[in-house]
Amino acid sequence: MSDYEFNIRDARLEDLDSIYKIELESFPDPYPRGLLKAFFFLPGSILVAVSRMEIIGYAIGLLREDELGHIISIAVAEKERRRGVGKALLGGLIERLSGSGVKKIVLEVRKSNFEAKSLYQKFGFETKKEIKGYYKDGEAAEVMELTL
Ligand SMILES: CC(C)(COP(=O)(O)OP(=O)(O)OC[C@H]1O[C@@H](n2cnc3c(N)ncnc32)[C@H](O)[C@@H]1OP(=O)(O)O)[C@@H](O)C(=O)NCCC(=O)NCCS
Repeated sequence: MSDYEFNIRDARLEDLDSIYKIELESFPDPYPRGLLKAFFFLPGSILVAVSRMEIIGYAIGLLREDELGHIISIAVAEKERRRGVGKALLGGLIERLSGSGVKKIVLEVRKSNFEAKSLYQKFGFETKKEIKGYYKDGEAAEVMELTL
């Protein structure tokens, strides 16, 4: 995939529709557009991946409390997956959070989401506990943590 190029940058409000489109095709229980918009009021919390001027993925991470970061969401447009975009977004977010003094990052992931768990494990995240019935359809979440 040598001709495949993309870059990672901070999201701008005009990216919201593209982010929402990716959200809708990526999750059975997508975040509402209004909630995604609200993250724009927390500067630096959304990164996007851009290829040929098109938004192809996004990641949201917050500084939740002192030294604790929370990865809220990460998704890549279906047709752009398996090309390293997820890795670049997650790496960018970890770097961003670690630059804000975060020492530990947590996230929740569906127990059945093998692709995402595999991505997180590549960066050293480990499953610490399970929350039964976390998602609307009753599926359990695994809580994964990365200590920086
Ligand atoms: C999870 C997701 C963001 C990965 O994005 P991506 O751009 O395809 O990921 P990458 O190409 O950077 O792959 C990174 C790693 O993820 C894992 N992975 C991604 N897709 C996979 C698949 N279909 N099967 C197995 N492992 C997979 C692999 O470990 C991969 O590393 P490798 O290429 O060295 O094998 C993407 O599948 C997605 O958007 N899924 C739907 C939304 C979602 O579930 N988000 C997570 C919410 S917690």
